[in-house]
Amino acid sequence: MKILVTGGAGFIGSNFLYYIAENHSDYSMVCVDSLTYAGNLYNLSSLISDSRFVFYKADITDVKTIDKIFGKENPDIVVNFAAESHVDRSIENPGAFLDTNVIGTQVLMNASMKYGVKRFHQVSTDEVYGDLPIDRPDLLFTEETPLHPSSPYSVSKASADMLVQAYNRTYGLPATISRCSNNYGGYQFPEKLIPLMITNALQDKPLPVYGDGLNIRDWLYVKDHCSAIDLIIHKGKEGEIYNIGGNNEKHNIDIVKTVLRLLKKPEALITYVKDRPGHDRRYAVDSGKIRAELGWTPKTDFDTGIEKTVKWYLENQKWLQDIEDGSYKEYYDKIYGGRDE
Ligand code: NAD
Ligand code: TYD
Repeated sequence: MKILVTGGAGFIGSNFLYYIAENHSDYSMVCVDSLTYAGNLYNLSSLISDSRFVFYKADITDVKTIDKIFGKENPDIVVNFAAESHVDRSIENPGAFLDTNVIGTQVLMNASMKYGVKRFHQVSTDEVYGDLPIDRPDLLFTEETPLHPSSPYSVSKASADMLVQAYNRTYGLPATISRCSNNYGGYQFPEKLIPLMITNALQDKPLPVYGDGLNIRDWLYVKDHCSAIDLIIHKGKEGEIYNIGGNNEKHNIDIVKTVLRLLKKPEALITYVKDRPGHDRRYAVDSGKIRAELGWTPKTDFDTGIEKTVKWYLENQKWLQDIEDGSYKEYYDKIYGGRDE
């Protein structure tokens, strides 16, 4: 089997490629990533010399190049992680989110139809459902919850989901969609809550908490997200949507305090700052369907996962440093410089 993974140089995509390499030794892997600011080829450094792995620096909105890659590689399975993924950036510059997250998905689906891909999997988010009230812990997002996205990011993801459903229904594209809660773990770009707080705390810089810090997210260790996608692409039913969640709701402020405790840094570093416009209050996911139908269970509880995560960043401070000084951008040229895609 050949699996083509887009956005594989990002946080979840790189974790997923390692997951496939470890769990499907007979698979070959193709990674397509345009290496935006969030793409870091260092994330894949242990795979680069693996004969089962090929990397293409390419933009998923580039019809000609994507067609060429699909024609050459003929993948069996496509998993689309490539996306602009940061809500704050979508508020500043929504256009890039519509291009990559919506049009890019369409380009990939057209190529998948043309080259007979057997499964197209769209990696989506629980944010497409909008938010839930803080004072109704009984309410969770199910796959039947109406889409009600609030940020340009979540609108772009919801639009892509609807387009995937349309391609499945209208053209018979063998597609599945997963909607996952907030991930944490190694290789996450330090603009997202957990790695940002770790990075700042390590440098004794203020930890910016938006608003009152009482917004709630449901956190899932990234490897558990990878195992869920692995199950869906192999056993999930075409045309279906699967929610994936950690059953692990936390207030942002409690996450920040946990990070400080693990790093033995003072809570005095916490700084409340202006709230994010349109800030979703609470996300909480009902993953009953994937548990019942595919037998998925997350393996890592939050206490273990956050300890592992903090340890990963402590042991990979060079990785953080290369992002901070921008040198991670040069790694592609060092490895593949001069290569014609
Ligand atoms: P990320 O920002 O870390 O990585 C995104 C990757 O996509 C980067 O390597 C980037 O270079 C690449 N990319 C961006 N635009 C591209 C383009 N036009 N062409 C080719 N490559 C491009 O994101 P992530 O956190 O790893 O998220 C991966 C996917 O999972 C996204 O689709 C996101 O919506 C979804 N998701 C993320 C979370 C989370 O908590 N991080 C939760 C649920 C769903
Ligand atoms: P984030 O990691 O950006 O993920 P998302 O917005 O997709 O859930 O943010 C997680 C939560 O943390 C969200 O409620 C916003 C909050 N947050 C802060 O309080 N401070 C920060 O510096 C960041 C980046 C996020």
